[in-house]
Amino acid sequence: MSKIVLKGDIVFTSSKDRFETYEDSYLVGKNGKIVGIFKELEGEYKDYPLVDYTGKLIIPGFVDLHLHAPQYPNQGLGLDKELLPWLNTYTFPEEAKYGDLEYAEKVYRRFIKDLWRHGTTSAVVFSSVHKESTKLLMDLFIESNLRAYVGKVNMDRNTSPELTESTERSLLDTEEIIIEYRKKSPLVKPIITPRFVPTCSSELMEGLGRLAVKYGVPVQSHLSENKNEVEWVRELHPECKNYASVYNKYNLFGQTKTIMAHCIHNTDEELDLMKNNRVFAAHCPHSNYNLSSGIMPIRKFVERKIPIGLGSDISGGHSISMTSVMVAAIQASKMYWLYNNKEYKPLTSSEAFFFGTKGGGSFFGKVGSFEADYVLDALVIDDSDLGYNNGLNLEERIQRYIYNGDDRNIIDVYVEGRRVEEPK
Ligand code: GUN
Ligand code: FE
Repeated sequence: MSKIVLKGDIVFTSSKDRFETYEDSYLVGKNGKIVGIFKELEGEYKDYPLVDYTGKLIIPGFVDLHLHAPQYPNQGLGLDKELLPWLNTYTFPEEAKYGDLEYAEKVYRRFIKDLWRHGTTSAVVFSSVHKESTKLLMDLFIESNLRAYVGKVNMDRNTSPELTESTERSLLDTEEIIIEYRKKSPLVKPIITPRFVPTCSSELMEGLGRLAVKYGVPVQSHLSENKNEVEWVRELHPECKNYASVYNKYNLFGQTKTIMAHCIHNTDEELDLMKNNRVFAAHCPHSNYNLSSGIMPIRKFVERKIPIGLGSDISGGHSISMTSVMVAAIQASKMYWLYNNKEYKPLTSSEAFFFGTKGGGSFFGKVGSFEADYVLDALVIDDSDLGYNNGLNLEERIQRYIYNGDDRNIIDVYVEGRRVEEPK
């Protein structure tokens, strides 16, 4: 039975509207879960092993709800195009390399190490169409002790010839991974991953929806990221009234828990469907700026109580740092408020932090908060070198860390109450 106490300055968001702060307090964990936060240790907790981080911030691990592992070598490259030419020019050629397991291993080890370094303790990841390198990525996540959903991408139309799967092969490979990995690890799980409607035939989507329901496996994809993409989907599926209803028709829209990345150009009817089906929106502001996709009207989603998380969307997004994504989300919401609609208030820093921790974490379960019974996933932050003003309260310190901190401030990472070593 694992027991642990972390002592320090504790900050988290149980609701989006404010930071909860506990100066110089004890975070107590048992069996990987939070017992509570205490000002003084009493009773049996006095005997738990204690790690003294006095003066350091202790916050929940970050949750990245959307990113592409095989695009990692393209990080910061080729961001001069919009979505569809970007995919054809930069993304598909890179993803075509992952039939080579040696190459895949090099990239994926570096990818996981960098997630760890940046404090992303839970991630929802696209791999490529390749079965073997997807399994390798899952095995490397298992070895790392980080938490992840990993999805083999499905594509049987409208991609490069090297990446085009037969419909049958795509479904067989997906099912093989589900059977092999659904019970292999408590932390790393498969997720069904039709890339997006344009690259998946109706037959493929129907088969994937069947697998999702048969095995109770979650689903991830992209939705309404770019206006040309939305128009293309309309041409491909005139029988459906909108983009979201194509996924919904095939049981890929909340029939099992589902994440849709971007959600910029949706109609109100589509948002109602997201709300009713409890579909998560993964907001990826860096990517949306880089590919000139637009600004997601996040306040609309908040008002409708659609579940929201944040995504780095590597490599449409250039930064794997979730604090950088939080800042971009705040800035995007301010520009939306200013230029589009004064009714949609900008995000506050506690809201952005919430979406990057508990908001996205709720896709996994009780993840991303320090309330009792949540998993003890935590980061220890040394913010002593950030700026000149050292008389700050905890709320000011967390704000400054979000805006001015980086991976160098993260000195320890915990998942389920255990310290996670740097992945090899
Ligand atoms: N839509 C379909 N595939 C992709 C991808 O790889 N990245 C992004 N940002 N959007 C997509
Ligand atoms: Fe993406």
